Amino acid sequence: MAKDPIYDSHVAVLAFPFGTHAAPLLAVTRRLASAGPTTVFSFFNTAQSNSSLLSSVDDADLPANVRVLDVSDGVPDGYVFSGRPQETMELFLVAAPENFREAIAAAEKEVGRKVKCVLTDAFFWFAADIAAEMKACWVAFWTAGPNSLSAHLYTDLIRETIGVKEVNGRMEETLGFISGMEKMRVKDTPEGVVFGNLDSVFSNTLHQMGLALPRATAVFINSFEELDPTLTKNLKSEFKRYINIGPLALLSSSTSQTETLLVHDPHGCLAWIEKRSPASVAYISFGTVMTPPPGELVAIAQGLESSKVPFVWSLKEKNMVHLPNGFLERTREQGMVVPWAPQVELLKHEATGVFVTHCGWNSVLESVSGGVPMICRPFFGDQRLNGRAVEVVWEIGMTIINGVFTKDGFEKCLDRVLVQDDGKKMKGNAKKLKEQAHEAVSAKGSSFENFEGLLDAVVNISI
Ligand SMILES: *[C@@H]1O[C@H](CO)[C@@H](O)[C@H](O)[C@H]1NC(C)=O
Repeated sequence: MAKDPIYDSHVAVLAFPFGTHAAPLLAVTRRLASAGPTTVFSFFNTAQSNSSLLSSVDDADLPANVRVLDVSDGVPDGYVFSGRPQETMELFLVAAPENFREAIAAAEKEVGRKVKCVLTDAFFWFAADIAAEMKACWVAFWTAGPNSLSAHLYTDLIRETIGVKEVNGRMEETLGFISGMEKMRVKDTPEGVVFGNLDSVFSNTLHQMGLALPRATAVFINSFEELDPTLTKNLKSEFKRYINIGPLALLSSSTSQTETLLVHDPHGCLAWIEKRSPASVAYISFGTVMTPPPGELVAIAQGLESSKVPFVWSLKEKNMVHLPNGFLERTREQGMVVPWAPQVELLKHEATGVFVTHCGWNSVLESVSGGVPMICRPFFGDQRLNGRAVEVVWEIGMTIINGVFTKDGFEKCLDRVLVQDDGKKMKGNAKKLKEQAHEAVSAKGSSFENFEGLLDAVVNISI
């Protein structure tokens, strides 16, 4: 057996084990670990999140200097769930500071090295204190976009300017007082900033995060500077370092032939789309967390059927019962409904003409990277801000008419994006952004160079 390499530095990585947070943090950790082979990375995650994260072949094969470790999910022994929303997340967050402190101390003993840097999901604002106690640096990863990051950074300013009590009458006003958010409306902000429950554990976490992030050695984000130059400039002035390293989707999946063969595509979506004409197909997916209510699923199906637009629809098996009677049989030639689809590859394919999406940040950025216009149906959190940016800032898509799917509204949107001149303009804008995204991650591009800065902040710690 090979001898353990001698590591000269130790980084603790703290993952947020819900939604699609842990996967991009692991992807970044892998890259940092490959670029800094003499640093050992202790990656903390809950057992449940870890097992889904590492079950894919791709992720199981980690660099030798990444150690994956369990941290408690924070659910007390014998706890009886009440079933309220966000319950597991709240239990985790409340217990997280102590659980991470203990887990880091144990890892330091095992490795025989003190942790020099704490690399965390940005949600973990308490890492500012943990890092200070340990005389380590704190580097925070905001896994969504710069608009929502700004909304949380400026939560107090938004509350003071708009007024928590007056907010209902001011929903249509824009946030002109925040540099880069001039086109965002009050109603686009995530709930918990100025409307909704301002006192939930989660709202409080994000508020605290906004206050703590200026203390971080660096804040980094899965985006590229050219996408939002004004926001980028402003956030650089607020944080010690603000580093754009994306789009990560352009880095993780290679386009080389041998690797394309390895793309996980159990339902044959790529073989199917191969035969369609350029920019003709609607790809529909609302991410891993969200499903539109049954009535909207019916409206989507009806809109697809009457528009005759070819489609790939990623829909969880358990929701297929909501589809209209006979829909699957009648549309067998027109499209496919699958429980899972290779999203990044579909969005890169030239036959994909529109992405119908909830506008989660990863999805939006993957669509930008593929040059695909969007029809947005935001539900919660940062999704409204992302959808608004798609529609009025980048002009690469539109929000669904009246905010929810109806047969006619959806049909009109498909027609506008896929057929009308308007849609051609969106496609042109999307193509330009795609080129900028590719440039950003190629040699000497902004994200490429910025990654060196991140490596420097995490591995070559100079504090
Ligand atoms: C993480 O998950 C993988 C795959 O299920 C498993 O092999 C590994 O033992 C897990 N590690 C920890 C620390 O839970």
